[in-house]
Amino acid sequence: MLIKKNIRIKISSKLFYSVIIISLVAFLYSCSSIKKEKSFNWGYYIDKANTDESQVPQYKLPDVLVTEEGEVVKNRLTWLQKRRSEILELYKNEIYGRVPQWNGSVEFKTTKEIPNSLNDKATMKEVTASFINKGDTVKMNVLIYLPNDGKEKHPLFVGLNFFGNHTVCPDTNITIVNGYVINKKAINVKNHKSTEAKRGVMKERWQVEKLIDKGYGLATIFYGDLDPDFDDGFQNGIHPLFYKEGQTKPKDNEWGSISAWAWGLSRAMDYFETDSTINENKIAVVGHSRLGKAALWAGAQDKRFAITISNNSGSGGAALFRRKFGETIDVSVAYAPQWYCDNFKKYVDNENKLPIDQHMLISLIVPRAVYIASAEEDTWADPKGEFLSAKYATPVYNLFNKKGIESDKMFELNQPTMNSVGYHIRSGKHDLTEYDWNNYINFADKHYFVK
Ligand code: GCU
Repeated sequence: MLIKKNIRIKISSKLFYSVIIISLVAFLYSCSSIKKEKSFNWGYYIDKANTDESQVPQYKLPDVLVTEEGEVVKNRLTWLQKRRSEILELYKNEIYGRVPQWNGSVEFKTTKEIPNSLNDKATMKEVTASFINKGDTVKMNVLIYLPNDGKEKHPLFVGLNFFGNHTVCPDTNITIVNGYVINKKAINVKNHKSTEAKRGVMKERWQVEKLIDKGYGLATIFYGDLDPDFDDGFQNGIHPLFYKEGQTKPKDNEWGSISAWAWGLSRAMDYFETDSTINENKIAVVGHSRLGKAALWAGAQDKRFAITISNNSGSGGAALFRRKFGETIDVSVAYAPQWYCDNFKKYVDNENKLPIDQHMLISLIVPRAVYIASAEEDTWADPKGEFLSAKYATPVYNLFNKKGIESDKMFELNQPTMNSVGYHIRSGKHDLTEYDWNNYINFADKHYFVK
């Protein structure tokens, strides 16, 4: 009896220690970056990607001006009442995913206001939006700079940022972001943490002082506030706040991360409408790269954005999928399956089956202004495909007596064009530069102030 009891104690203490060790390992694993930073074989995809114009397959784009029933759209009314809604529905169901009904509440609170920022040139504010549902809260922190130029209301650019609000400007008053950040060697972001040392590291990309000097405000939001950018099965960020009883992930046609980021931009717009120092009719939404995809999707859905700006947004942004040049659907859904809705996976190596292509995303913005910018060395984003989307959306602008891209030929380097559709291809790499901003400011000036 006694022997048996001793053996049992030995076994149970062994079990006890094993459980502790296993739990410890599991805990360390969940904290580590290994799980989040899936190793991705970029080399394989980059070697596979076509960057030779002569290898672009023959393709036929869906006709933006023919309805699903085959009716040719000849006037604005048919466009607005029929065709636009058809296209919008397709984008929601097949690419970015639809946002389920929101049953929660949203509260905005100004948490910081510093009137003498940037050597007295600007007023800085931080506004926290709290999204609350069934006892859970997600917070989005909007950083805003407005010129101290004596004007009552200010036009504004709003855009999501990659590494935290404190990276856009060296102002020490900006709250440091605390959530999951993607690692980046170039600016030494490690372990998915952004720190005090990262203040202002992205200032070239944001040009806050230039904007202020030109009379514009800037609002920016760390995109991870809405949905941290890794494939976690939508357990964090804003998605769970929308789940119905028993739901654990979005349905096949429900939103991925790009939709969530775009949704956040619209919630920021809700705030701007309530702020008497912001001109809600002069708001441009801007984004670079994956955040350019989000800016386009926000501008396509939300008519309150007067101008939409896509900077090097590439595949899933302004570039035509059917050209299969640079990044393809195959790569995007392997690299970041969280960006799109699950339905989008049907189109891997099956681009011609897509009932839409990205000239139709641009067409959703008509008659409002849109600017598409490419970079010469950014072949991954397919500059020509970005240009062609703008070009092929032009007939819809023409329906509204507006000019889009009237030339058939791609523009020369560093020669911006600015009709209702703006476009430039600048020399250099994938980035958001001062040159890009100079053009966005001129474009906004032209649309807001020159009649
Ligand atoms: C990758 C991805 C692109 C994306 C870019 C970015 O290159 O393939 O689609 O635009 O990352 O957001 O930086």
